[in-house]
Amino acid sequence: MRILQVSAEIFPLLKTGGLADVAGALPIALQSQGCDVRVLLPGFPAILAGLKDPVRVGSFGTPWGEAVEVVCGAMPALGNETHTVIAYVLVAPGLYDRPGNPYEDANKHPYADNHRRFAALGWGAAHLAHGLDRLWCAQLVHSHDWHAALAPACLAVWNAGMGPRVPSVYTIHNLAYQGVFWPQNFGDLGLPGHVFSMQGMEYFGQISFMKAGLSYASHITTVSPTYAREIQTPDQGCGLDGLLRGRAGNLSGILNAVDDAVWNSAADRHLEHHFDVRNMTGKARNKAVMQAELGLTVDAEVPLFTVVSRLTEQKGMPLVLSGLDEILARGGQLLVLGNGDTQLEQAFAQQAKTHPAQVAFRMGYDESFAHRIFAASDVTVVPSRYEPCGLTQMYGLKYGSLPLVRRVGGLADTVTDTDLETLDDQSATGFVFDAFQVDDYRRAIRRAFALYHRRSDWNRVRQTGMRIAFDWASAAQHYTNLYKSLI
Ligand code: ADP
Ligand code: GLC
Repeated sequence: MRILQVSAEIFPLLKTGGLADVAGALPIALQSQGCDVRVLLPGFPAILAGLKDPVRVGSFGTPWGEAVEVVCGAMPALGNETHTVIAYVLVAPGLYDRPGNPYEDANKHPYADNHRRFAALGWGAAHLAHGLDRLWCAQLVHSHDWHAALAPACLAVWNAGMGPRVPSVYTIHNLAYQGVFWPQNFGDLGLPGHVFSMQGMEYFGQISFMKAGLSYASHITTVSPTYAREIQTPDQGCGLDGLLRGRAGNLSGILNAVDDAVWNSAADRHLEHHFDVRNMTGKARNKAVMQAELGLTVDAEVPLFTVVSRLTEQKGMPLVLSGLDEILARGGQLLVLGNGDTQLEQAFAQQAKTHPAQVAFRMGYDESFAHRIFAASDVTVVPSRYEPCGLTQMYGLKYGSLPLVRRVGGLADTVTDTDLETLDDQSATGFVFDAFQVDDYRRAIRRAFALYHRRSDWNRVRQTGMRIAFDWASAAQHYTNLYKSLI
C-alpha cells in the first residue's frame, strides 16, 4: 500500500509537541508492517535542511497565484539501518521561509496567512495522490491535525468529485486547535462553494480546517480510545461533537506509543548514566547530578516531582501551582521545564526564586534536558484538563518515574492507579485522580509520598511501569488494517 503521511512537524527536524513525535515514529513503524510510506511536509527551513539530495518532481499553482515546487529526497535523520524515509517537501519560500515556530511569529501571534500556508499543504497532498510524481502515486492520504486537514477536502472535490476517490484518514491530535479563519479567506482555498456549508467546513460563520478534515475524511482517528469517546460529548467536543457523533461509525481511537530508538534509558545518548529495570543505579546517579546542577538539595530520599510540558491551562499547570505547597510541606522537590503562557512562566520562576532548594524552573524548550529530567525524576506530573493521548506520562513510565495524572483521555488509557487491589495484582503504575480540582490533585500528591515511603512497593510499581511495551508495532498494525479496509 502506498501511503502518504501529511503533517506540519516531524521529529527530529521540527517539533513543537507530541504531534512531531508521532509523525516521526509512524513512517518506520508502518514500513515495518509492509507499507510503502512517504511523508509530505511544508518547506520550513528546518525541514529543507534535513532533506538529502532533493530532486524536483513537479509543481502546482495555488488558488492565489503562487507557484509551489515539490521536491523529493531522503530524510536521513528519520531513517535507520533497515529503513529510509522518503519525503516530499513543498518549496514556497514566500509561505514557509520564516525562522522559529512554524505557526506564529516571535510575538506569539499566528501568521496572518496561515490559511494559505496550510491550504497549500492540503493541495500538495491531493496532487501527489493524482500523479504529480510520475514514479510514485499515493493510494491513501493520512493527514494529521488541522494544518493538514484540508487534504481530505481537496481529495473529495478532485475532478468535481466524479470518479473513484482516493481515500483519506484524518487523525485528530488535539481538537481544540482548529485552524479557524474569517470567511473572506475561503476564496483563497480553491475549494468549490458548497464546501462552505454546514456539511462542509463552515463553522459558526467562519471556516474551520479541522471541520474540513472531519467532514471529508474517509475515516477519522484520534490518539486514544478514551479521547475518541470524550470528543463526542459537548463537554470535550469543542463545538464539533454533533458532527463527531454523526461520524461515530468512521471514528476510532488508536493509542500512540513510544519510539524506542529515541526513548530508551539503557542507551539514551542524552544521559550521563544509563539504567534499566534490572539495574537502577544509573537512575539514582542521574537524580543526584540533576539536583546538584539545579541547586536543589542533593538527597536521594527526597522525591523529585517533574513537569516537562507546554505551560498552558490544558496541561493543568494552575493545579501544579496551587498544589505546590503540598509538595513543599512534605519536603519534596519540583522541577519544571517548559514555556507557554507568560503568566504561568512568571509564576513558576517566582516559586523557584522563593524556594531555591526545593523548586527549580527551566524556561524554554530543550529536548536533551527533557530526556535527562525523565531519567532523574521520581514522579512525572501530568494533571491535564484534557489530554488526547499525552506522551510524557509514557516517557515517565519507561524511565522509572511514576506518572501522576488526571483520569482523562490518553492518560486514563495508559496509567493504572495505585490502590490495595492494583498493588496486590501488580497492575499499579502511577497515581490517577478524577476531578480537575486542587483538592483531588493534592490527594494524589499525598498518595505519591505515602508510596514513596514504602520503598519495596514503590520499586515494584516502578518495575511494572518500566516493563510496559508501548511499542509502535501494535499501533501501526491498527493503522495498516484501517488502510487496507479503505483502499
Ligand atoms: P502535547 O503535544 O500536547 O504538548 P505530548 O505529551 O503529546 O503533549 O507531547 C509533548 C512532547 O513535547 C513530548 O515529547 C515532550 O517531551 C515534549 N516537550 C514538551 N515541553 C517540552 C520542553 N519545554 N522541552 C523539551 N521537550 C518538551
Ligand atoms: C497533541 C495532544 C497530545 C498527544 C499529541 C500526539 O499534541 O495534545 O495529547 O499526545 O498530540 O498525538
